[in-house]
Amino acid sequence: QDQLKRAVAAAAIDEIRPLLASDSVIGVGTGSTANHFIDLLADLRHDFRGAVASSQATAERLKGHGIDVFELNHVGTVPVYVDGADEINPRLEMIKGGGAALTREKVVAACAERFVCIADASKRVEVLGGFPLPIEVIPMARSYVARELVKRGITPAYREGVITDNGNQILDCYDLLIEEPRRIEAELNNIVGVVTNGLFAARCADVLLLGGEHGVERITR
Ligand code: A5P
Repeated sequence: QDQLKRAVAAAAIDEIRPLLASDSVIGVGTGSTANHFIDLLADLRHDFRGAVASSQATAERLKGHGIDVFELNHVGTVPVYVDGADEINPRLEMIKGGGAALTREKVVAACAERFVCIADASKRVEVLGGFPLPIEVIPMARSYVARELVKRGITPAYREGVITDNGNQILDCYDLLIEEPRRIEAELNNIVGVVTNGLFAARCADVLLLGGEHGVERITR
């Protein structure tokens, strides 16, 4: 699987190379697949200006490779955002946030002209929800949000010991069958105290680079 992650990361480098220019700042995601991408990006560091990171961990890794990291507020939009996913369906809607970086990932994705998702074949599903859906909540609202989820027939679990880069907590929602990701994304975000949830449906991927035993498949919407 690690080899597949490396292969899709290499494919992402080819995908974004035409977008790199001396003034371009690109968005970089979080996780083990994104880490492969960051490591390969290091070789191109003189071909672009820098990156916006979707987590502290990614910012540290980028800086470790000598890639400048910029505040999103100072950049505005990015031409491309490259990130992994925990699950992705045929419409390129995703569950993300296994690494608890969902909110910053969603913000950078919202500011990206193009979202390139890199994933190994194990992430590809027909219906989202097998992977527990993370919800970032402000700490004082955790119990309230959990009760509201139970009212909706959802079973949440507190991800103990995890504090997000934004100082918040995570509830993971198990055993969902998410047939209408856009509706569920909006509905969950409407519960007071929720910062955001890990459904990326309103802003899904534009391109999926999917690594399987026969190579990397490029899928667009
Ligand atoms: C981080 O919060 C996530 O959204 C990751 O992008 C996702 O969990 C994929 O991670 P891996 O590439 O490690 O599977």
